[in-house]
Amino acid sequence: MFRIAHISDLHIPPLPPVPLKQLVGKRLIGQFSWFHKWKSEHRQVVLDALLAHLQEIKPDHICITGDITFTTLPAEVDKAADWFSRLGEAQRISLIPGNHDAYVAGALDYAEQKWSRWMRDDEGQTGFPYLHRRGPVDIIGLSSAVATPPGISLGRIGQPQLEKTETLLNRLSADSRPSLLLVHHAPQDGAAKPRRALADRKELQAVLKRTPVDLVLHGHLHYPVQAELEGPDDTIPVLGAASASAIGGRKSVAHYHLLEVETQGGQTQITVQHYHFDPIAGIFSLTRTQTL
Ligand SMILES: [Fe+2]
Ligand SMILES: [Fe+2]
Repeated sequence: MFRIAHISDLHIPPLPPVPLKQLVGKRLIGQFSWFHKWKSEHRQVVLDALLAHLQEIKPDHICITGDITFTTLPAEVDKAADWFSRLGEAQRISLIPGNHDAYVAGALDYAEQKWSRWMRDDEGQTGFPYLHRRGPVDIIGLSSAVATPPGISLGRIGQPQLEKTETLLNRLSADSRPSLLLVHHAPQDGAAKPRRALADRKELQAVLKRTPVDLVLHGHLHYPVQAELEGPDDTIPVLGAASASAIGGRKSVAHYHLLEVETQGGQTQITVQHYHFDPIAGIFSLTRTQTL
């Protein structure tokens, strides 16, 4: 059995002080939004509890589906890198960025450089999609992170990435290994309003209809989600994790998935354990188990 933790939307608190010259435009709005709305929601105590929990249960692998920072300040990016380092060796993490990691034009460049050890493919190449082959599982990481105007948090994968993804999935299909696709924005219809949605989800859905995966993991919505996409023969399950740092005052309390992947005789079974943060006990505990 191979155990994979799926965590998302850390928005690593607290937001560091912003150099005055960077406090313009969308970053100024971001600061206001953080202090008036989100500072009380995303708490360091929750992330500390998650780190301790993951260090204790030691999953074989950890998938992190974006929105690591709040405004992609270099100090936030550096802090996130420290947090990832404490989870264990780089080989055990597959990371993709979210819209908050591309908060203003150009900001994602520094994040991709600083976090490259968790986003490089197995040949050491950077860029998306990447492939991480870990244990019995193939993990494909996409980026839907694009800089957007204030008030807009949509995502876009783009045609070049979609074409590479289809080529990659076609190649992998010969090996019959279980495959997980990571994307920050929810790929199913109706998950979010247009200004918050994955703009080219129809194109991704078309790729997956021709070249399916076993499971899609996403974040962005800040509450646990289960959905389905159409595959060529069967449906493809989709799971969204809530924010990993939320105390639960505004949206879902912090939550993550622990997947148990078992392969036997060419068949794959994935069991999903849902863990939620318990604000009274101050720990993450198992709340529900399901088989996909
Ligand atoms: Fe988020
Ligand atoms: Fe997001």
